[in-house]
Amino acid sequence: MTTTTAARPIDQDTSSAPLRVSVVGTGYLGATHAACMAELGFEVLGLDIDPAKVAALSRGELPFHEPGLPELLTKHVQSGRLRFTTSYAEVGAWADVHFIGVGTPQKPGETGADLRYVDAATRSLAEHITRDALIVGKSTVPVGTAERLATLIADTRAENNLPGAVELAWNPEFLREGYAVADTLCPDRLVVGVCSGHAEQVLRRVYAKSLAEHTPWIATDYATAELVKVAANAFLATKISFINAFSEITEAVGGDIGTLADAIGHDPRIGRRFLNAGVGFGGGCLPKDIRALQARVSELGLDRTMRFLAEMDDINLRRRDRVVDLAVQVLSADQGHPRRPANGGTGHTPDPVSVQVLNGAKVAMLGVTFKPDSDDVRDSPALDVANRLYTAGAEVAVYDPKGNANAAARFPRLGYVDTCEAALTGADLVILLTEWDQFKALDPAHVGSLVARRNIIDGRNVLDRRAWQAAGFTHAALGHRFDPGH
Ligand code: UGA
Repeated sequence: MTTTTAARPIDQDTSSAPLRVSVVGTGYLGATHAACMAELGFEVLGLDIDPAKVAALSRGELPFHEPGLPELLTKHVQSGRLRFTTSYAEVGAWADVHFIGVGTPQKPGETGADLRYVDAATRSLAEHITRDALIVGKSTVPVGTAERLATLIADTRAENNLPGAVELAWNPEFLREGYAVADTLCPDRLVVGVCSGHAEQVLRRVYAKSLAEHTPWIATDYATAELVKVAANAFLATKISFINAFSEITEAVGGDIGTLADAIGHDPRIGRRFLNAGVGFGGGCLPKDIRALQARVSELGLDRTMRFLAEMDDINLRRRDRVVDLAVQVLSADQGHPRRPANGGTGHTPDPVSVQVLNGAKVAMLGVTFKPDSDDVRDSPALDVANRLYTAGAEVAVYDPKGNANAAARFPRLGYVDTCEAALTGADLVILLTEWDQFKALDPAHVGSLVARRNIIDGRNVLDRRAWQAAGFTHAALGHRFDPGH
């Protein structure tokens, strides 16, 4: 069903000339949006201030891994429908609609969002647009940002006495890494924060194909559009931490966390998705977005409102402690002196004596990206755990189908290997923390023939416990009580 909530009456936009679209910022979000806009039939000019990135994209080379995107990029660079530039003057004179897709990372040493890139992109567009145009923010921003930027645009243009009417809209992005192309071409909803019927009408032309396919369309004000995005990510993070909090209980008393998730997930009011217990959430979005939301509400004097998100963050980070703790327990049991879970099994950092168990242990780390089908290691739980084990003295051999290079750039001292077999060979302990299909399909007998000791920790609950135990492995998993006898 189409949901239409027009903030203002819609003016008719009678122009029929095809819209020309620019996308400012050609990172993950911007490059995907630019290629998908070209796929929808628009002429597109992508802008980035990094000339090396612009040169690579112009050759059809994508600087990150995203299934399906290289094909779209090549297709539209070759057709001439998609071009790239470093020039604001060029896009300002050319495009009707300018999407802003630059990053809003966490401020170094703080929890709030760093808005310097979004501010700079908006100011540069405002200074260079010389015709009627709509600027459309897609970046995830704290509530109140669009209103502030609308004033910045109006002031900049008045000061410089520039020709053309320029408006701002906010159109948050909900794409997931690994599914970015499908999520952009066939979104499950479209949300636009607008100040006029004209702005909504232009965006309806941009998204005409999705509208024809009855994608829900929510036209609203700036604040609501900004909040929809952070509310969605906060809700997803809460779902994951909710099930992971129950993992702490099942780890202590027994029970099966997967069955628990299945059973509550059958209730359609709850739903099964995003209830997969494991090492928790990471990446460039969920962690920084829940922190930025807390920082923003605190600025607004509403400190208590989002306090529960600090708890969700804590639960999430405790999962990483739990993996280190399990590694200690599994290796201790293997060495014939089983240890009780550190700090009563609540998932805190192991005591110094336990850490000694890790010293010199050979650990095969399967997966280092924050999730499969991505090469992104930003705030990756797997990479964090690998680094903690290394710091505790373990010899860590990391293998990830796509993430090794990015991980090595952050933590060069870990051992990186080019094949899964190389990581497994001679390992005392195997730890799976990113659920790539390749790891889910591992044959326990084959793995058993490579490792030195048959110990495995399933940090994503994707392995068949019985099959691994039948092959002689000590199997431990997050959300399950560890029983050294099995
Ligand atoms: C997330 C949102 O899902 C997108 O809707 C949003 O557009 C995007 O952030 C963004 O703000 O740009 P993404 O970061 O690509 O997308 O990753 P998710 O698929 O949400 O996964 C996030 C993390 O949660 C991963 O580390 C994943 O392993 C973990 N996760 C997910 C779980 O631990 N359990 C689950 O059940 C699901």
